[in-house]
Amino acid sequence: MPDTTPDSSGISFTALYTGAVWQHNQLSDPRLATPRGELLYRLMAPFDGASRLVAGGNLRNYLLQRHLIIDALIARAVEEAGVTHVVEIACGLSPRGLRLRQRYPQLTVIEADLPAMAARKAAALATAGIDPQQHRVCPVDILAQEGEHSLDALLAAQCPAGEPVVVITEGLINYFTLPVISGFWQRLAALLAQRPGSRYLFDSFSLPANPLARSGILTLKNLLGGLTRSRVSLHFDSDLAAIRHLGDCGFGQVFSHNPEQYYRVLPIPQSRGNPLVRIIEARQG
Ligand SMILES: C[S@@+](CC[C@H](N)C(=O)[O-])C[C@H]1O[C@@H](n2cnc3c(N)ncnc32)[C@H](O)[C@@H]1O
Repeated sequence: MPDTTPDSSGISFTALYTGAVWQHNQLSDPRLATPRGELLYRLMAPFDGASRLVAGGNLRNYLLQRHLIIDALIARAVEEAGVTHVVEIACGLSPRGLRLRQRYPQLTVIEADLPAMAARKAAALATAGIDPQQHRVCPVDILAQEGEHSLDALLAAQCPAGEPVVVITEGLINYFTLPVISGFWQRLAALLAQRPGSRYLFDSFSLPANPLARSGILTLKNLLGGLTRSRVSLHFDSDLAAIRHLGDCGFGQVFSHNPEQYYRVLPIPQSRGNPLVRIIEARQG
């Protein structure tokens, strides 16, 4: 049967840029650096400076906020709830898996991305000498409803049945329309319901109230949509809307984390005014 899963591989190059952000902020490993990522990082620098002036925050700051808050929430799941498996979907060139394995040697980390990006990541990590039992890189496609690259197949093959897992998607959901990403959330909620104690962490980006900043973000959104051949979408205009929607997708408990709550706790940059990013934590059981 022909594969009818839509192709979202146009998004993959954005992982080179975020990879460079992690490099420039001493969060990564040189083996995950790429020349194209570095070039994109330099090209974005003037926009970042301007957006800091206009909107009170820039893309790099939001990326660092989301990355470090997700790290903190994973640490809580490992230390307080004893979760032993972390699945990072759309991992790109994120160094999180390496850092997690250093900090928690007992943890099994499964990184997953579209096949081409997963192969690239696996090749880079192979030179880092990772333990292939406890740190794996697998192909997945969140749009695949069945088959070897589906979420169902990934969790069944990589994580012990019935055991809780932490699933992450970072920098992914805004590349899809709400109906499309909701299909993934529904499948994920159903699978995590079979693993009580599981948590799903993701970042969600929203529009600023300031009209000038708003039109700047809308321009960036359209530009990014064109470059990635995707329907970049901002899904929620309030924390409550996000919480309700994830509940409707089948998650039992949902929390929205505002970076402001973490300014005194984590070494994250501060936004002027209300930050545009939220970390959503959706739990089962
Ligand atoms: C903005 S990058 C984020 C990478 C990484 N999470 C980070 O924050 O550095 C988006 C990632 O989503 C991946 N991606 C795009 N479509 C996907 C899909 N259908 N299933 C799984 N991953 C996908 C891309 O390959 C890319 O690595």
